[in-house]
Parts: sequence; structure tokens; C-alpha cells
Amino acid sequence: MDRMTEGTRHNPARLPRELQRKLAVTVVGAPRPGDLAPGQVHRGDARALLPRVTPGSVALAVWSPPYFVGKDYEAHLTFEDWQSLLRNTIALHFDVIRPGGFLAINVADILCFKDPSMPRVQAEAAARRRSRVTRDDVLRAASSHPALNRYQLAALLGCSEQTIDRRLNGNNIRGGKYESQTRVKIVGGLIEDWALGAGFFTYDRRVWVKDPAWENSRWSSLSYRAVDEFEYLYVFWKPGITAVDRRRLTAQEWKEWGSRGVWHFPSVRANRDHESKFPLELPRRAIRLLTDPGDLVLDCFLGSGTTAVAALGEGRRFIGIEISQRSCELARRRIAAAQSAGRKQRR
Ligand SMILES: C[S@@+](CC[C@H](N)C(=O)[O-])C[C@H]1O[C@@H](n2cnc3c(N)ncnc32)[C@H](O)[C@@H]1O
Repeated sequence: MDRMTEGTRHNPARLPRELQRKLAVTVVGAPRPGDLAPGQVHRGDARALLPRVTPGSVALAVWSPPYFVGKDYEAHLTFEDWQSLLRNTIALHFDVIRPGGFLAINVADILCFKDPSMPRVQAEAAARRRSRVTRDDVLRAASSHPALNRYQLAALLGCSEQTIDRRLNGNNIRGGKYESQTRVKIVGGLIEDWALGAGFFTYDRRVWVKDPAWENSRWSSLSYRAVDEFEYLYVFWKPGITAVDRRRLTAQEWKEWGSRGVWHFPSVRANRDHESKFPLELPRRAIRLLTDPGDLVLDCFLGSGTTAVAALGEGRRFIGIEISQRSCELARRRIAAAQSAGRKQRR
């Protein structure tokens, strides 16, 4: 077989010599013994299993990594560990993605990043002002609006959430005075540097507007910061010929989301089985936009299996990698249910 890949119609001889050298190992996507089989969930560390994905076989990798926000599955990671996990994982994608293919990373900024070097200077006037809100005011507001949490009660009464705590509990139970200050950590620049370092080029970026996370916004009533209500999808391109087929979406879809930088759809409401599922619509859109039916889609942080379910729903193949046994089982159950629903629909 010459170096022209059937699936990609890619002729490396036409590329600059340096790029030819870089791409040489990845152009031909013939499976090797021991490679991960498509259509399955593989349990293990992404960094150990990615070298076993057939080189050049993946049209699109789409995933959402640990965000370094203290979830159970990342609690053991230092910030350096987290950076190294993402940097290495991104680098390992270069060989597995076919020339002209994409790596799409869904991630958010870290809104509560502990920074011991940050001076502990508070907003003076506001912090010193004694609130006139009384315990009775708080109790009255809570009984007239039983659904409001203490951040929302604070917004309603025009005081800080700390005041609500003090009025209800007699003191500030968080002991925040002694904790490190937190600041916003922008993650996009890190991701871009790691992707460029791996050989990809930044192709596109979208913003997903999700539900505002009031219940997690400890700081919203104590500062001028906004609540957590959007995430990013960064899309990186591996050099090579990319088929651009505008027929992948209808004219209406191009107008509504295909050509739009900002996507609006709700967060996953019921996430008791997995603490950070993304909505099916997120990988579904990336898959419809960036792949053709039959193409191979990879998610190496598969979680509850959303990407695999989206790929199957769109007639694509998938490979899933996930480190947690429990999540692998959940993903396999969701995939089996999606496959059986698909079979019923075709009957
Ligand atoms: C943000 S969640 C992904 C959720 C997924 N998109 C979904 O919809 O269910 C990140 C996942 O990465 C997994 N994970 C963490 N470290 C990993 C590693 N080194 N290799 C593979 N998976 C890992 C976690 O167990 C978690 O399920």
C-alpha cells in the first residue's frame, strides 16, 4: 500500500518535508496486534491505553477531562499532576488522529483556584459595613421562599451569604479567613500550548452556555464575580486534507448552531450516577460537524459513556477509555441500551 490513505485521500508527498516526517507514522491506519477494538469501553489510564489505539484511525477525539475542581476522581491530583495528565494525553492524540482529523476538548476555567501567593485583601468598605439584616428577616425570607438556598436568600435580602450564615448559625462557619485566597484560572491558554506543542493547530472554539450553577457559587454574594454558567469547546486540527461537506447539516442547523460560536443547551439534570456528565448534545454536535457516518470517534475520559452513545446515534463507531470501573460499567449499560433502542427503531 502506498502512503495514500483510502479514508482520508491524503497524499503526504505534497506536504512540506518536515511535515511528511512528522506524519509518517500516522498516515496508514492498519490495526496492530493488541490494538484497542472499536465498539468497546476499555478500562485504564488514558496515558497507558492511547498508544494502543491504531495510528491514524480516529476522525475525531472529543472529551471532557477532569477540570481540577475537586471532584472525587481527581481529588488525588496536584495542579502539576493535572497539567501533566492533560499535556501527555493531548500529545498522545497526535498519532492516533488521522491527518485532517480533529481533537475537540470540552473544558472550563477554574473559578475557585487556590493561590497562596494572592494577597488577602478584602473589599474594605463592603466587608466592614455591618448588615442591618436580622435573624428574623432571614427566617421570614426562608419561610416565604423555601426553595431558595442561602446564596439566593442573600441576593434577595441584599446581604452577603456570610451574613445569612451568621444570622442562622451565630458565627461564620466557613473559617474562610484562614484559607488561601482563590482566583480565576484561565485554562484555554494552557490547553492551546499543549495542543500546539503536540503538533495540532487551533481550528475553532465554541462556548457552551449551560445552567447557572448558583448552588456552587460560594463567592457570588461576596464579590463581583459571575457564577459558573459556560464552558468551552476547543477544536484542534491535525494537518492533512479535511473533507469539508456542507451537506453534513441542514441549512437550518447551520444557522442555528453549525456556524454559531455560542451554543445554548441545558446541563445534565440527573447526574447521581456520574458526577460530571456532559449533555449528549455536546458530543453529538461535534460529531455531526466534524465526521462522516462510519468514522471512528474516540473519548479517552469516557465517564458515563455519553460520547459513545452520541456516536452510535449518529451512525459512527467509537472507542471509549475510562479509568474508573464503576464508570466503565455505567457506560457499558448506557451503550447497550442505546444499541437496543437503535435496533428497535430500525425494525
Ligand atoms: C469530566 S468526566 C467525563 C464525563 C463524560 N464526558 C460523561 O459525559 O460522562 C472525566 C472522566 O475522566 C475519568 N478519568 C480521570 N482520570 C483518568 C485517566 N487518567 N484516564 C482515563 N480516565 C480518567 C474520570 O473517572 C471521569 O469519569
